[in-house]
Amino acid sequence: MRGYQHCLVVLGLTLLGAAEGSGQSTGAAKPAGGPVSPVQARRGETAFNQSCSACHTTAQFNSEAFARTWNERPIIELFEQLRSSMPQDNPGRLTREEYLDVVLYLFKLNGAAEGVQELAPTEEVLRATKIKLKVTN
Ligand code: HEC
Repeated sequence: MRGYQHCLVVLGLTLLGAAEGSGQSTGAAKPAGGPVSPVQARRGETAFNQSCSACHTTAQFNSEAFARTWNERPIIELFEQLRSSMPQDNPGRLTREEYLDVVLYLFKLNGAAEGVQELAPTEEVLRATKIKLKVTN
């Protein structure tokens, strides 16, 4: 009986700790400047090779002009542009995950910093996340 009670106390403390921990991360939208997960970018490279490379080379999107256009703009802007127009012969064919992976791959080509956390292709995350690209001033 005593052992059982002890367990309950430990469980209670664990739950308290968890609640405190999550309290810090709820609320405000994620700050701008989410870096790119290399794993997600690699998936994007695969998707690009499968769905984009018939008409595009990566060199086309690895440029000062591209970086200037998309630097620190909400990810959703390029995401929605691609989703509504590319691949040109079948727009919208990729999944949301794949479009996001491709966007992050292109951002990585343009000097985006690496980070461990993958981004989810939700409206909320895409609106709240802006990524810094390499632009020379
Ligand atoms: C069947 C050929 C074809 C495929 C496949 C294709 N594109 Fe395109 N893409 C084009 C053409 C043609 C244009 C230029 C005309 C236009 O802007 O609509 C273009 C334009 C673009 C632009 C705008 C370029 C700029 O300088 O403004 C982006 C970005 C782009 N494509 C990305 C992609 C991505 C990412 C994929 C894969 C998911 C893809 N495209 C697949 C033909 C294609």
